[in-house]
Amino acid sequence: MSSLLVHNIGELVTNGIGADPLGIRRKAAVLVEEDQVAWVGPAAYAPAADHRIDVGGAAVLPGFVDSHAHLVFAGDRAAEFAARMAGEPYTGGGIRTTVGATRAATDDELRATVRRLRGEALRQGTTTMEIKSGYGLSVADEARSLRIAAETSPETTFLGAHVVPAEYADRPDDYVGLVCGPMLAAAAPYAKWIDVFCERGAFDVDHARAILACGQAVGLGVRLHANQLGPGPGVRLGVELGAASVDHCTHLSDADVDALAGTAHSDGFGTRTVATLLPGAEFSTRSPYPDARRLLDAGVTVALATDCNPGSSYTSSMPFCIALAVREMRMTPAEAVWAATAGGARALRRDDIGVLTPGARADLIVLDAPSYLHLAYRPGVPLIRQVIRNGVPQ
Ligand code: NIG
Ligand code: FE
Repeated sequence: MSSLLVHNIGELVTNGIGADPLGIRRKAAVLVEEDQVAWVGPAAYAPAADHRIDVGGAAVLPGFVDSHAHLVFAGDRAAEFAARMAGEPYTGGGIRTTVGATRAATDDELRATVRRLRGEALRQGTTTMEIKSGYGLSVADEARSLRIAAETSPETTFLGAHVVPAEYADRPDDYVGLVCGPMLAAAAPYAKWIDVFCERGAFDVDHARAILACGQAVGLGVRLHANQLGPGPGVRLGVELGAASVDHCTHLSDADVDALAGTAHSDGFGTRTVATLLPGAEFSTRSPYPDARRLLDAGVTVALATDCNPGSSYTSSMPFCIALAVREMRMTPAEAVWAATAGGARALRRDDIGVLTPGARADLIVLDAPSYLHLAYRPGVPLIRQVIRNGVPQ
């Protein structure tokens, strides 16, 4: 068995060892055996290993867990972004533009985009990335989107209910029937999760409940886009169905926060619904940011993710989202880093990632900085010096 010692770590974020939420260890070392963390401890007691990386006092963190991204698409919507920056509102209507481009693309074109964005994210420290379909919206195009996504990530999500495509515009019930029937059957072999955009202009709560129930019935886990553009019942639907995560959470009532907080008190990953905040979307749509403080103060588990997509948030950068969360959403740097690592893992109901404790997957990032604080303190700076994924230096 080959071993690797990551040595001379000035500040190690474990998210698990000790009383502080980030489980910080100073002057530490991490021993990796194959693809797992085998030992964490003081650098002075580091065991021998086949290979050694001396990080020279730098900070080391678990790799980022980006639990919400839409990477399977073609084309871009830069002109729509420019129009927004000139005052146009974001409505989600541009999704259909991307659906047209995606349907017209070849498999290899879609595959190249997924790989390009996945590589971009990896260089910025993302070691796990969820990938959604949702720009195909036909049986064949949703199935191929997920087949291509599954080549790159085990965390794949069927989002056939992103919007009602133009050809079903006047018969949304028929589209819901398609999603629950042949589309789900074709998509499910490549998907772990099912998601619905539950929002005015997309799917109402009854359609969302029906679609998510069909997904659950074939063994998919539930996640939901909800309360992004306005208030509504989506977040409470997610809690009712035991969703792993409800995402966006920009417009919340007290009842929504109470519902999310209620799940936080039940132990274990099996019942908790995480609130995943996507500040890249508010940045890129020039919208008010979600009230992260209100959620955190209520005891809700919060994750941060990029929402990487060509419409509302064309960034693959978790450090950018951390900086936004700290500066614009009043999360502390520690809360934001936790949310981008352990929080994302909870949103995917994974306990083997987002932490650096013995037995966890050996997904580590080495910063070009002495502390995790620099991720928010030095926005826009490429601070990820090295990424180790599955025990392998990238
Ligand atoms: O998460 N809200 C729905 N879906 C995406 C946006 C998709 C798009 O505009 O292309 C989101 O923001
Ligand atoms: Fe999204």
